[in-house]
Amino acid sequence: AVKPEPAPVLLNFAAIPTNRLDKVTVPQGYTARAFLPMGTPLTGAYPAYKEGGLNTGAEMEQQVGAHHDGMHFFPLDARTDGKNSAEGVLVFNHEYVEPATLHQNGPTGAPRPADEVRKEVAAHGVTVAHIKKDASGQFQLVQGSPLNRRVTGATPMEISGPARGDAKMVTKYSPDGTRTRGTLNNCGNGYTPWGTYLTAEENWAGYFMNADAAQPREHKRYGVATKNGRYSWETADSGADQYQRFNASTIATDSNRDYRNEPNTFGWIVEIDPFNPDSVPQKRTAMGRFGHEGVVFQPPVEGQPVVFYSGDDSTFEYIYKYVSKAPYYKATAGGHLLNEGTLYVAKFNADGSGEWLALDFNSEKFRAAALAKNVEFVSQADVLINTRLAADVVGATKMDRPEWGAVHPTTGEVYFTLTNNTARTAAQVDKANPRANNATGHIIRWRERQQPQALSFDWDIFLLAGDVGTETPGTGLKLTADNHLASPDGLAFDKNGLLWIQTDMSGTQQGSGPFGNNQMVVADSKTRQIKRFLVGPIDCEVTGISFTPDMKTMFVNIQHPGDRSTVTKLTSTWPANDATSRPRSGTVIVTKDDGGIIGS
Ligand code: FEO
Ligand code: CA
Ligand code: CA
Ligand code: CA
Repeated sequence: AVKPEPAPVLLNFAAIPTNRLDKVTVPQGYTARAFLPMGTPLTGAYPAYKEGGLNTGAEMEQQVGAHHDGMHFFPLDARTDGKNSAEGVLVFNHEYVEPATLHQNGPTGAPRPADEVRKEVAAHGVTVAHIKKDASGQFQLVQGSPLNRRVTGATPMEISGPARGDAKMVTKYSPDGTRTRGTLNNCGNGYTPWGTYLTAEENWAGYFMNADAAQPREHKRYGVATKNGRYSWETADSGADQYQRFNASTIATDSNRDYRNEPNTFGWIVEIDPFNPDSVPQKRTAMGRFGHEGVVFQPPVEGQPVVFYSGDDSTFEYIYKYVSKAPYYKATAGGHLLNEGTLYVAKFNADGSGEWLALDFNSEKFRAAALAKNVEFVSQADVLINTRLAADVVGATKMDRPEWGAVHPTTGEVYFTLTNNTARTAAQVDKANPRANNATGHIIRWRERQQPQALSFDWDIFLLAGDVGTETPGTGLKLTADNHLASPDGLAFDKNGLLWIQTDMSGTQQGSGPFGNNQMVVADSKTRQIKRFLVGPIDCEVTGISFTPDMKTMFVNIQHPGDRSTVTKLTSTWPANDATSRPRSGTVIVTKDDGGIIGS
C-alpha cells in the first residue's frame, strides 16, 4: 500500500517585504512566471500579438483579452475524478480596457473609430484556454485545441430564470426578451459544483448611456450614464446596431432601433460551460441584478439546496445569498439549479447575529415591506431586475463595498472582503462596518446556523486592514511589516484551509504611503497568522486565484500593470520588462522550486 503523504507544514516560508518594483515578487524558494498575457493568440488563425497597439479588432477577437481578473482552473477530468494537475482549461475574466495602451495612438474622442470599438468590445469578456504541461513540466497553451474560446462583449447569450421573456428584457435584438449580446466588466468569478464557470458582471452600468430627462429606476439605481458611455461605444462611426445598443435613450429610439431595455440584460451572473465551446452562455437572473463582484458556493450536500453568495461592490451596497429551490444531487446537478430559487440579502445585527431577508414577490412579508416604502413591484422578474431597490425596502445592511467571498472547505464559514468606503461618516458607522472614512477595508465572516440555507447566522470581523500596528479588537491580531495591507479584494480558500487575500489599492494608495504595490497575503483563519506571499508590478491589481488539484501550481492574475501610462510615457513594461514594451495584463504561474505545496 502507498503511504499517504504527511500533511504539509503550512506558512513555513519567510514573508516578503512590500516593494514598488516592476516585477512579481514571491518568497524565497518560489518562482513566478508570466503566462497568457493580453494579445496571446488563442483561436482561429492565431493572430500574433503586435507591440504598439497594432492589432485590429478582428485579431483581438482571436486573442486573449485585456485586464485579467477572476479565474478558475478546471482539471481536464473536472467532471469525474478532478485530479488532473497536468492538463485542464484555465478560464479567466477580462474586466475592462486601457485605451491609452490598447490602441496605437492612445484614446480617441467621439465619434469613436468603429474598429477601435470592435477591439475594445473583443478585449472584454472571458478567455477559455486549454493548457497542458510540456515535457519540462511547464504549462503551455494547447495550440489548435477546440476548447480554446473567447467569449466577448458581443457573444450571443441566453437570458434564463425568472426575468427571461419579461417585457423589460425586450430589445430589437430579442423581441421576445430571451437573448442578449455579450458580458461586460467581468470582475470576480465563481464556478459550480457541476464543473461550469460563473462570471460576474460588475461595473456594467457605465458602459450604457440614457439621456432621458428621467431614467427608469432599473437604470438610475445602477448608475447608467446620462451623457456618454464609459468608452462612448454608442458613437462608433460605423453606426452599427451592435454599438448603437449602448445608447438606451428614448430620444434615440425609433421602431427599428429600440434598445431602451439593453442595460436590463446586464448586471447578472453568467454561466459558461468551459468544456463545450459551442454552448451559449446563460445569464442566471434568479441570482439577482447588481454590481456582482463574484460568486461562491457552500460545499453542496446531497439532497439539500445548493447555496451561493455574491457581493455588490459599490459603496453602501449589500451581500446576497441564493438558495436553489430544487435539491442538489451530484448525478443530476446542473444549471437548472440556478434558474429557480430564493434570493436573500444580509442584515448584520449589532449583537453579532445576522438574518437573511428574502427578496421574494410571493412572500407577503416582502410585499408589505415594499408597500410600507411606497415601492411597487409587479412580479418576481421586476424584483430581480431591481434587486438593489428590493434590498433597500427590506432594510438590509449597507456595507463598505462587498468584493469577493470565500467558503472554508471544511467548516463552511463564509468570509467576505469589504474593500473600502471613504464615504462612510461617523454617523453611519455600525458594528459590521465599524470605521468612518474606511480607506483600508476589512474582512467580515459568518457561520450559518445549522443548514447552509438557514435564515440566520453568527458573524464577526476577521481582520481590519491597515498600516503596521492596526489591531482587530478582541482578536489579538495586530498587523506587522510582514502582513500590513489595504483594500482587500480577491479572496479564496485553498483545499488546505489557507485563506489567500489579494489587494486592489488605487494608484494613489500604492504610489505613496506604507503599502507599496498591490499584493497578496495568506492567512491561517484559525490562528490569524498572516504572511505576505506576493507583490505585483507597478500600478497593477493582484486578482484572480486558482490552483491545480495537487496544490503544486498556483495561478494568479496581474491586472492593468502600468495603468497610469500614456502612449509616450510607460509607468510599467511588465511582463516584458524591457523599458520599451507596453504593459499587458497577464496570468502568473507560481510554483515551489522543490515541487512542494503552495503555501508551505
Ligand atoms: Fe472589479 Fe470590485 O473590483
Ligand atoms: Ca475586484
Ligand atoms: Ca476592487
Ligand atoms: Ca480590477
